[in-house]
Amino acid sequence: MKDLGFSSDTYGETIIAFLGGEDGDSIMSLMPMGFKLNDNCELVGRIFKGSFIYNVILEKKISKIPCIVCVTRSPQAFYLAVFDKKILTRRFEGGRCPRSYCDACINGELTVEGVEGDIINVSIRPLSVKINRRMPLVFDRASAAIIEALVWYTKIPYVPCSEIYEILNRLKFYRETVGRASKRRNFLKMINKIFREGVKNAKGSGC
Ligand SMILES: Cc1cc2nc3c(=O)[nH]c(=O)nc-3n(C[C@H](O)[C@H](O)[C@H](O)COP(=O)(O)O)c2cc1C
Repeated sequence: MKDLGFSSDTYGETIIAFLGGEDGDSIMSLMPMGFKLNDNCELVGRIFKGSFIYNVILEKKISKIPCIVCVTRSPQAFYLAVFDKKILTRRFEGGRCPRSYCDACINGELTVEGVEGDIINVSIRPLSVKINRRMPLVFDRASAAIIEALVWYTKIPYVPCSEIYEILNRLKFYRETVGRASKRRNFLKMINKIFREGVKNAKGSGC
């Protein structure tokens, strides 16, 4: 787990696919999620109220879910995990680790450790790891800014009106960063959509 970049002091941002749809083996849902490493070399994270899986766990009283944790730096993968889950979900069907989106995948079992208010604490016991990419990647600011913008975008429905303006300002700032750090059309398209949808959601929330 440490070789994949996970640590006990910093959240590693991933995309997690939850298995166990209607036919047992299909993908029930997926979403970006952060994990730290605990002393038993398990991933530990928090599922916040508002997400689809939060409701599923509480309503169906599920305590264990098989899952695939996708390790990636691809802003496109994070973007799809928020804006176009269907496309990405299809790539994980059958328990696959999609090469074009994930540098590695951890197959594991998620255990619900407890519910604390609006948070479900979970741990994941890794069962196997599939490595898709061994070539190192440089850090680029545009990818980082897009992923950070997505984090703030997903908070919009849960923040009080007084904080929404600040989030929109952040999204604007990340849009500028992407514009300065990259000329890739796909990056610009993603950050523009995040900003546009952020404004739309803010207006829709009545703020
Ligand atoms: C990089 C990143 C990390 C995130 N980490 C978490 C997390 O650790 N826990 C969580 O509940 N939501 C997290 N979120 C927010 C959820 O992924 C987001 O609300 C998601 O769209 C919920 O999925 P749903 O549409 O299936 O409800 C994160 C979002 C991003 C972009």
